Amino acid sequence: VNQDQTNLRIPGPTPLPDEVREAGARQMINHRGPEFAALLERITSGVQPWFGTSRDVVLLSAAGTGGLEAAIVNTLSPGDRALAVTIGAFGDRFASIAATYGARVDRFEVEWGLAADPDAVREALRAGPPDAWRAVLLTHNETSTGVANDIAALSRAIHETAPDALVIVDGISAVGAVPFSMDEWGVDVLVSGSQKAWMAAPGMSLVSLSDRAWLATERALMPRFYLDLARHRADAAEGQTPWTPSVAVMYQLDAGLTLMEREGREAVFARHIACAEAARAGLAEAGLDLLAEQTHASRTVTAAWLPAGTDPKAFSAALRSRGVVVAGGQGKLKGRILRIGHLGWVTVEDVEMAVAAIAEVSRSGSATSVAAGA
Ligand SMILES: Cc1ncc(COP(=O)(O)O)c(C=O)c1O
Repeated sequence: VNQDQTNLRIPGPTPLPDEVREAGARQMINHRGPEFAALLERITSGVQPWFGTSRDVVLLSAAGTGGLEAAIVNTLSPGDRALAVTIGAFGDRFASIAATYGARVDRFEVEWGLAADPDAVREALRAGPPDAWRAVLLTHNETSTGVANDIAALSRAIHETAPDALVIVDGISAVGAVPFSMDEWGVDVLVSGSQKAWMAAPGMSLVSLSDRAWLATERALMPRFYLDLARHRADAAEGQTPWTPSVAVMYQLDAGLTLMEREGREAVFARHIACAEAARAGLAEAGLDLLAEQTHASRTVTAAWLPAGTDPKAFSAALRSRGVVVAGGQGKLKGRILRIGHLGWVTVEDVEMAVAAIAEVSRSGSATSVAAGA
């Protein structure tokens, strides 16, 4: 729990450990100097095992959405066909980014609360025709619904059906908290964000590309300047970034990675499983129905339907007065669900405290609106 006693249980930004907060307060350094080169190298090599890649990891001073935009504009040309597999609000956003830059996007939409079925994606690609596809966009962990896709199985299905399509994955809200094997699974582009599993403040996006994806950057014609990944990679080889980076967030990423390494990968993954189980069990016990298909329930965020007749604003105010902050619904789920984030710096006790407060507010009926409750 935070030092200010707020149990911030949104799916990012997450609370920060003291070591990370203190790291962010450090004095600035020359971002063209040797200390910066060492910092950049420590972070990029520190992230690699969590991504499951031996390839370069590019650090962008941008929100996660900037990383997603980079993934698109560096690998595709206007008119390229892309299949956007969307299982929620963030999948929809990813599709919109590609469409904004002129990709010919087909949306494969899955009912919110469910994961994408690899066989159904295969069918959608066959309708393409298969050799026309240049990219398939996937969401690893759909934060708006609390559903995790099986990226290994989806990637396999895509490579077998549409061999020319790059597999581009939004891994923003779970990579680092759950196992990911980018190279082994044949993922071509993977994006994450500093404010999620990495226990750092918002502001940096982490992007890695396969060899095939780097080749695609040489042909891709979508416009880019700030987010030009080839330029970032070339400068990183010199220990620099092309533009002035978010040095303070990099200090934090470095400190967060040190803590994650100290805890150990398996322990980090096990802690996230335990927290997710505590969230699901506690919410169910409180009488709330879970949104996600349980076979694909996320290990970093859990969504539940608000009890019938709940006033969502009154509900979150009642939780806040108990020191607990959770997230609401997005898009068509706005006002209908609550979401608990359990990623990054989180313990089972933090989740249990949040769930106990939710149960208390729910049982008290204090957030039931008269109109809806009548
Ligand atoms: C799955 C997913 N994609 C994209 C984003 C967008 O990241 P940002 O808000 O940092 O742009 C988020 C943020 O919650 C996310 O969870």
